Amino acid sequence: MDNIIEIKNVSKVYNKGCAEVTALSDVNLAVERGAFTAIIGKSGSGKSTLMNILGCLDTPSAGEYYLEGERVSTLGERRLSYIRNNVVGFIFQSFNLIPTMTALENVELPLIYRKTDRHKRLELARNALEMVGLSNRINHCPFELSGGQQQRVAIARAIAAEPSLILADEPTGNLDISAGRDVMHILSELNNSGKTIVLITHDSSVAKKAGNQIEISDGQIVSDNKYFRYNKRNNT
Ligand SMILES: Nc1ncnc2c1ncn2[C@@H]1O[C@H](COP(=O)(O)OP(=O)(O)O)[C@@H](O)[C@H]1O
Ligand SMILES: [Mg+2]
Repeated sequence: MDNIIEIKNVSKVYNKGCAEVTALSDVNLAVERGAFTAIIGKSGSGKSTLMNILGCLDTPSAGEYYLEGERVSTLGERRLSYIRNNVVGFIFQSFNLIPTMTALENVELPLIYRKTDRHKRLELARNALEMVGLSNRINHCPFELSGGQQQRVAIARAIAAEPSLILADEPTGNLDISAGRDVMHILSELNNSGKTIVLITHDSSVAKKAGNQIEISDGQIVSDNKYFRYNKRNNT
């Protein structure tokens, strides 16, 4: 079994504010390469904290995180930044596009960070925008695009650099039903083409579109249907 993600006994305690908050408590999680996994839980259950750790935007207070077999929980900022730019593609609820840049320029940005040469950069960015059905909008700025189109630009930006892992935190949270469905369809297509996707959502109808569902509550994993299926198979 090839696990792209392995989280072992991870806890996260925030203690910068007035009171200590345990956002994750002894979490164990494995994600197979090529899987489409949804992490579902109510607001405040620890989903974004977990996503930030998975994406190397934050580090655990305790426990170990292995990404593509590399122990990242103890790495320094330089290597973490390299991983963020090369291994992970991020999709956020609020799109996080640069308002003064066109769709094409937004998608090119991570490729500039990766020092991809201009010719290759344009090719990868155009291909990614084509994949999300926006070839006819590449020179539009975010304010000229609908919410659904903006999220599709954000998906193109996440996939242009061909990351091993796509992390999406509530990607349909700011969209209407139809645009949300389009986004889920694109994510399913990406998964069918071999991409590993971890999707975070509070919406069970969105989570159902993924192959595996993991439920988090009060910073703990309370169900993981991958293991449920595994246990069922082994009990019969
Ligand atoms: N930077 C922070 N400092 C202090 N507490 C935080 C911080 N970020 C999140 N929390 C707390 O950690 C818990 C989990 O938050 P979060 O991971 O954002 O949940 P979710 O994404 O599921 O809504 C919440 O109780 C929240 O208030
Ligand atoms: Mg959140």
